[in-house]
Amino acid sequence: MPFVPEIRLHKADPHSGLNRLAQTDPDFGSPYWAHYWGGGLALARYLLDQPALVAGRSLLDLGTGSGIVAIAACLAGASPVKAADVDPYSVAAARLNAEANLVSIETVLGDLTFATPPHVEVLAIGDLFYDADVAARVLRFAQASAAQGTLVLIGDPRRAHLPLALLEEVAAYSVSELSGATGHNAKPACVYRLRA
Ligand SMILES: C[S@@+](CC[C@H](N)C(=O)[O-])C[C@H]1O[C@@H](n2cnc3c(N)ncnc32)[C@H](O)[C@@H]1O
Repeated sequence: MPFVPEIRLHKADPHSGLNRLAQTDPDFGSPYWAHYWGGGLALARYLLDQPALVAGRSLLDLGTGSGIVAIAACLAGASPVKAADVDPYSVAAARLNAEANLVSIETVLGDLTFATPPHVEVLAIGDLFYDADVAARVLRFAQASAAQGTLVLIGDPRRAHLPLALLEEVAAYSVSELSGATGHNAKPACVYRLRA
């Protein structure tokens, strides 16, 4: 994609047949994994531009979707990289996308926000503040991680439930969620560090 040309992703288009898949699976949820999100695009760009932040460090990508952030982290030298999501289709897509980019990630299916955060050096969160309940749980998880010494990086296009008062902006971009490019339809998308 133009904004992050280092990464190739399998994405949905009108011919992908997602509707047919949805009709055959009553548990089919919103296919977040099949689309670009401002938060993931911004965070992926940031990690690729600032590899020293993550190189050689363990990283968890919470709410991985397509896997874009986890893949960027691998390309920047993070290791090991875990990618977690509650959607089994996301986990499958993230694995396929990792393969397409010749990187290795460990996928985790489930909601880690109900558990004690694992000890990782970096927690990456791409675009998870779109819903009040999810945002509250993700924030608690992020704060518990930070209290353990984890660097918490958040990519977000300033969605409604982003806890801005607790964040320090470290990068600002402009990108379209439709095309994964700057220019037409581009909107602000930033990267933040959770304050300790
Ligand atoms: C808007 S998408 C962002 C995907 C990706 N991080 C990106 O920026 O491209 C949100 C993702 O978070 C996942 N998700 C929602 N709640 C979650 C939770 N509690 N734990 C893990 N993943 C979650 C969704 O299934 C979805 O894949």
